[in-house]
Amino acid sequence: ATKISALSLTSKKRHGHKITMVTAYDYPSAMHVARAGIDIVLVGDSVAMVELGHPTTQPMTLEAMLHHCQAVRRGVQQANNNNHNNAEPLLVGDMPFASYEYEDTDIALRNAYRFIQEAGMDAVKLEGGSVARARTARKLVEGGVAVMGHVGLTPQSISVLGGFRAQGRTAIRARAVLDDALRLQDAGCFAVVLECVPSNVAAAITESLEIPTIGIGAGNHTSGQVLVFHDMLGMTSHPHHEQFVPKFCKRYAQLGHIIQEGLQEFKRDVESGAFPNEEYSPYQMKENERRDFE
Ligand code: KIV
Ligand code: NA
Repeated sequence: ATKISALSLTSKKRHGHKITMVTAYDYPSAMHVARAGIDIVLVGDSVAMVELGHPTTQPMTLEAMLHHCQAVRRGVQQANNNNHNNAEPLLVGDMPFASYEYEDTDIALRNAYRFIQEAGMDAVKLEGGSVARARTARKLVEGGVAVMGHVGLTPQSISVLGGFRAQGRTAIRARAVLDDALRLQDAGCFAVVLECVPSNVAAAITESLEIPTIGIGAGNHTSGQVLVFHDMLGMTSHPHHEQFVPKFCKRYAQLGHIIQEGLQEFKRDVESGAFPNEEYSPYQMKENERRDFE
């Protein structure tokens, strides 16, 4: 099967073909995303929130990220073995908070190598586009690691930003987001995520860059779109969690409802004795053994 590469993504942008990216955190979600023919599978540090119940992405550690990346790698491989028609997706691992911010860029490079060597990722993603961050991105690229950038709302900096809110909403702030994206392109990033910026800002950035932009809460004028698996599939249908699904996120399924129905039906069946019936009681003794036993 063919394999999606950084180069094929740039080619998609040039030809006006939209790029799709969805997060996955484990073996089954990776199989689903790969089987759907999504271009890029992102092992996002959003795993901290949607899978582990943390209020932010900050608690996610390097070791924990690698653990999830390894499972996703196996899921994508399995999906690819089962179906050779789809192009194999590009696998991107999110570098977590505190794994690439040190001034010593060797630390970031060493950590990035772990995503490639220990977890089978094709690329890593890091947040922010400051001069220092661009220097880190360049260090990784020079070390042979493909890097995806991420600007606009950068959730790892939530304590500094003051909340999950849109970025680049004034002319000056919009220019700053554009400058971040340009710096990351200059540093050698192959694509950049634009999170929670106004549509016209995302459009201007996409226009200014050669490399593709992948939007989330950034309107329809980016080179592609990314959504979080649990949010887009309605996994968290618990009323308390509704408020955490961002308003830009379309729900393409209501998995939470389906899961609840299944669980509640199992409970009813067990409590009434309807499960397991003959059909689900497959293990029988041979008649003579049975006579001896009973
Ligand atoms: O962690 C994540 O899911 C992400 C995407 C929202 C881009 O970084
Ligand atoms: Na992330």
